[in-house]
Amino acid sequence: MLEYSKVALDFMNRDHAEFVSLCEKLIATLNDAPNPRAIDPLLDQLAEHTRHHFAEEERQMQAAQFPPFRMHKGEHDRVLSALAEHIERWRQDRDAAQLCDVIESTLNGWFVNHVNSMDFVTANFIKQAKG
Ligand SMILES: [Fe+2]
Repeated sequence: MLEYSKVALDFMNRDHAEFVSLCEKLIATLNDAPNPRAIDPLLDQLAEHTRHHFAEEERQMQAAQFPPFRMHKGEHDRVLSALAEHIERWRQDRDAAQLCDVIESTLNGWFVNHVNSMDFVTANFIKQAKG
């Protein structure tokens, strides 16, 4: 169970819960029946969800003229391309243990840090800007 901060905007909390539940589903499937037919669609779903979730945060940051927008978006872009690389590697190697490790350590570690720092500050700023 991942521990991360609740932020000031509900749409972000909903996206974060969805991200965590997709990661949990992936880990359970990787432990249970790590076959590509089950894993590939879940990875596509995770990539799609993450793209959407980041794009919505970015749209709202821009609307609120959040000053460190570039920095926050830079981190999103970096994570999206790392995720695409991890998915590509899985498609080539089909290494379930490696993918499990990437999700549990790299991706989830990044997620908790990101939510607790950048998303937390960003949500407060957008909420205040909206009044
Ligand atoms: Fe973010």
